[in-house]
Amino acid sequence: MQKKILITGGAGFIGSHVVRLFVNKYPDYHIFNLDKLTYAGNLENLRDIENKPNYTFIKADIQEGDLMLKLFTLHQFDAVIHLAAESHVDRSIANPLEFVLTNVVGTVNLLNAARHIWKDSFEGKRFYHVSTDEVYGSLGPTGYFTEETPYDPHSPYSASKASSDHFVRAYHDTYGLPTVISNCSNNYGAYQFPEKLIPLFINNIRYNKPLPVYGKGENVRDWLWVEDHARAIDVIFHKAANGTTYNIGGHNEWKNIDLIRLLCKIMDRKLGRPAGTSEKLITFVKDRAGHDLRYAIDSTKLQKELGWKPSVTFEEGLEKTVDWYLANQEWLDHVTSGDYQKYYEEQYIKR
Ligand code: NAD
Ligand code: TYD
Repeated sequence: MQKKILITGGAGFIGSHVVRLFVNKYPDYHIFNLDKLTYAGNLENLRDIENKPNYTFIKADIQEGDLMLKLFTLHQFDAVIHLAAESHVDRSIANPLEFVLTNVVGTVNLLNAARHIWKDSFEGKRFYHVSTDEVYGSLGPTGYFTEETPYDPHSPYSASKASSDHFVRAYHDTYGLPTVISNCSNNYGAYQFPEKLIPLFINNIRYNKPLPVYGKGENVRDWLWVEDHARAIDVIFHKAANGTTYNIGGHNEWKNIDLIRLLCKIMDRKLGRPAGTSEKLITFVKDRAGHDLRYAIDSTKLQKELGWKPSVTFEEGLEKTVDWYLANQEWLDHVTSGDYQKYYEEQYIKR
C-alpha cells in the first residue's frame, strides 16, 4: 500500500521543492499537497510534476479546523510535513493577526486532526513541523543558535512560529503525538516570491529599480540553498526519533550589504552591464522595526547524527539562483503581476 503523505504549503517556495523531491524520489508515497494559494502560493511552481500519478493537489485553508478533520478522515494520511505559513516578517509587522490565525491556529488544527485519525495507534505515523531559526531571537557579533537556545522571538512572524513550535512539542509531551521539528536559517533559490531579499533585488536590478537596504545593511543572515533544505527535511523525516528537534543551516553568514554587493556584481556580469552599474541602485532606507541583528545556526547535531551537509557553496548557489531567475523571467513577471492566480482557475476549475 502506498504511504499517504500530506505536505502543507506545497505551492509556496520551500514547499514546492519538498513536494518535487518527494514525488520524484518516492513513487511508493502518494503526496497530497494542501495549500490555500495565498499570494505566496503558486501552482506554476509545480508544473513539472502536477500530472504524476502519485500527486494530488487540495485547495484548502488550514485555519478551517472542521475541514482539516474531514480531509484527514477522508484521506487517512500516514504522515504530515507542515510548511504552510505566513512567512514574511514585513507583512507580519503590518498584519499580525493573519500570522496568528494561519501559523498558530492552523498548526493546532492540523495537530488535532492528526491526533484524531491516529488515535488507535501512532505506529508508523509522523507529524513533521517545519520552522525557522528566527524563534531563537537575535545574536550579537558571536555565538550560534543550537537546539538548546531559549526561544526569544521579536517579530510577530517569529512569535507566531515560536508559538506553533511550542504547541507541536506540547502535543508530543501531552498526547504522545509522534512529532519532529526543524528550525532552518534563511533560504534562497528558485521559486521564491520576490518580496524576500534575494529575488526582490534580482528583479529590481533587472528593471533598474532602487535596491532598498534597511538601516545600514549591517544585519547578518545565515543563507542556505533551498534544495539543501529540502534534502535535510527528507533526511529528518525518515531518520529522526520522535520528539526531537534539528537545526538546519549552512554555516554561511553574510552581512546584508556584502551579500547585496556580491549579487550586484553577479548581475552586472550576467546582464553584460559595466561593473558597478547595479551597485548604484543601492538605496539606504528606514530600518525595519525590531530588526534582528544576526542569525547564525549551529547544525552540528544534524550533520553528526543524520549525516546531512549542504551540497553547494553560497557562491555556487547564488550563481545558480541568478541563472534560474534570468532564465525564468516569465515566472517573475507572472508573480509580480498576479497572473499566476489565474493559473489555478485554468488548471483546476475550468477543466
Ligand atoms: P511561502 O510564503 O513561500 O509559502 C507558504 C505557503 O503556505 C504558500 O503556498 C501559501 O499559499 C500557503 N499558505 C499560507 N497560509 C495558508 C493557509 N492558511 N492554509 C493553507 N496554506 C496556506 O513560505 P516559505 O518561505 O516556503 O516557507 C515555508 C515554511 O518554512 C514556513 O513554515 C516558514 O516559516 C518556514 N521557513 C522558511 C524559511 C525561509 O527562508 N523562507 C526559513 C526557515 C523556515
Ligand atoms: P528577508 O528576505 O525578508 O528575510 P528575513 O527577514 O526573514 O531574514 O530579509 C533578509 C534580510 O534583508 C533582513 O535583514 C532584512 C533585509 N532586507 C532589506 O534590507 N531590504 C529589503 O527590501 C528586504 C525585503 C529585506
